[in-house]
Amino acid sequence: MSYPYQIRSMDDYTTAWKKSVEDPAGFWSDVAQHFTWKKPWNRVLDWNFRDPSVKWFDGAQLNITENCIDRHLADKAHQPAIIWEPNDPNAQQRILTYAQLHEEVCRFGRVLLNNGVKKGDRVCIYMGMIPELAIAVLACARIGAIHSVIFGGFSAQSIADRLLDANAEFIVTCDGAFRGPKDIPLKSVIDDAVIRCPFVKRVIVYMHTKTPVSMIKGRDVWWQDEIEIVKQSNQHDLPAETMEAEDPLFILYTSGSTGKPKGVVHSCAGYMLYTAYTFVNVFQYQPQEIHFCTADIGWITGHSYIVYGPLSAGATSLMFEGIPTFPDAGRFWDIIDKYKVNILYTAPTAIRSLMAFGLGPIHGKDLGSLRVLGTVGEPINEEAWHWYDEHIGKKKCPIVDTWWQTETGGVLISNLAGITPAKPSFATLPLPGVQPMLVDEKGNEITENNVTGNLCIKAPWPSTLRTTYGDHERCRVNYFATYDNLYFTGDGAYRDENGFYRITGRVDDVLNVSGHRIGTAEVENAINMHSGVVESAVVGFPHDIKGQGIYAFVIFSGNQSDQELIKKDITATVNRVIGPIAKPDKIQLVSGLPKTRSGKIMRRILRKIAEGELENIGDTTTLLDPGVVEEIKKGRL
Ligand code: WT7
Repeated sequence: MSYPYQIRSMDDYTTAWKKSVEDPAGFWSDVAQHFTWKKPWNRVLDWNFRDPSVKWFDGAQLNITENCIDRHLADKAHQPAIIWEPNDPNAQQRILTYAQLHEEVCRFGRVLLNNGVKKGDRVCIYMGMIPELAIAVLACARIGAIHSVIFGGFSAQSIADRLLDANAEFIVTCDGAFRGPKDIPLKSVIDDAVIRCPFVKRVIVYMHTKTPVSMIKGRDVWWQDEIEIVKQSNQHDLPAETMEAEDPLFILYTSGSTGKPKGVVHSCAGYMLYTAYTFVNVFQYQPQEIHFCTADIGWITGHSYIVYGPLSAGATSLMFEGIPTFPDAGRFWDIIDKYKVNILYTAPTAIRSLMAFGLGPIHGKDLGSLRVLGTVGEPINEEAWHWYDEHIGKKKCPIVDTWWQTETGGVLISNLAGITPAKPSFATLPLPGVQPMLVDEKGNEITENNVTGNLCIKAPWPSTLRTTYGDHERCRVNYFATYDNLYFTGDGAYRDENGFYRITGRVDDVLNVSGHRIGTAEVENAINMHSGVVESAVVGFPHDIKGQGIYAFVIFSGNQSDQELIKKDITATVNRVIGPIAKPDKIQLVSGLPKTRSGKIMRRILRKIAEGELENIGDTTTLLDPGVVEEIKKGRL
């Protein structure tokens, strides 16, 4: 059994890629035949990267939830759509069949409507990894509201910035979330955020952890009470709203090289097609298999490969509330054994952190159901790749190294499991529809192999970001203006003699910490909020587990008798402003920063120091005060 658009051999791949480049409209309309449309399209593709303007299937109408749910009711009503494993291994698991998911999404869609949410309204979702998070996302899509999911590790201030940027009047949250031994009070964080956002009309709260919360009259309602009202009304189905192909489906904020996160916007039809297509092809999904993506739905990986991709392919998606090391470092392996998971999709940082526990936690766990392994989010080092291959895949499971971004919506460069060759630490070849290209500093294409360059994409794929919310010019400048007529990824890449790509990392001021993107400017802004801080500079350094760690150089004024306390205060400030995910690993107090005569901080020098390359700092003669470098070197942590 396979999908009509499933690539089954290397030849298939070569043919598909070639066709997708020569005739993108023909290629993608063939794929689109296998989806449910309310009205066919007028034109498959219309684009230019100058504005930029990218339109796929313009004129068509659809609703993504009919594709993710309704159309599977005929033959998969009783198949699990979502399997949920709770944080506490002794708590009750939950299974939602496609029929049950349909019922829940319709009910919560009605709750949203009853609470005044209309098509096009922005709904902020701030929840833990419980089935209701997926239900809330899909219910928004059902009624045509634009969801903006915010990861649970962001602070009240970050949430407020996002609520303001999207002008989101509705919030769906939980009382709290379980994460390992912790209980995170989500609703109270929302309360702090809403202080700055008086335009918020309604907060719907799902009771999960039974953490005490303050429910504000006229603004806050309980999810469970609202569902009860819908049940009483005896309305079971909820017809899916008719959406234009290019209507926005969601906003997801991500960091860039400026201090302010960008609201990446994805649209309905292209995103649906591309996530389904890549899900089926990259993982070579077979009907009935259980797919376990360990990401959080607060990130793009969760959007595309826990919710939309798997469900639009009628798959069974396993959702895990907890963390890999709770109650012990064998948790992933227990889950794989318990549910007989077939596909495991996780991040190099998780692999490295589990590697550190040795083989003990794997012992006695049956991992024989695994067929495919995947990694995403950051370059995977060879050591981690081989450990994953030997000890988890038992050398029988192809590993797909999937390179993509929040902005790309789905995987752009990856091997296809068992179909195209794998090469450790290489993402390898582009998916059909994707035309990668390396350029030099001047923007000239590098056509040879065995070279490195800046990674660009020549033409749109269906889930190209359409805009950055509320600021189209920012989208143009960020992604489409660096190089003429190209999408610039912000990544550097190496291409080998076979044309395989290896992503070498960001070439802009964006860090990748545990597979999460954090802009150095954002962290600096947060540090600078501390009253004693004069100036700061943040760079990345290699970190054994996280891939990259955050190193902050800080000029501090005032009493410095207790340096440890100052550092703790700075950390607390970052937690408050951005959230625990941006917490610096190292803070070095310095009396000055290396600057050019025109006042520009020479980050190159700071990066070298943070990396420990003290001998190789390079030219410092253009510095205003070369002496400062020696002092910083001496104080290196
Ligand atoms: C950045 C995008 C895509 C979902 C998770 C992260 C890095 C991503 C890989 C990979 C090397 C990778 C890139 C990219 N990245 N996948 N397989 N190999 N690097 O999404 O937060 O938007 O971050 O993650 O640097 O630009 P994101």
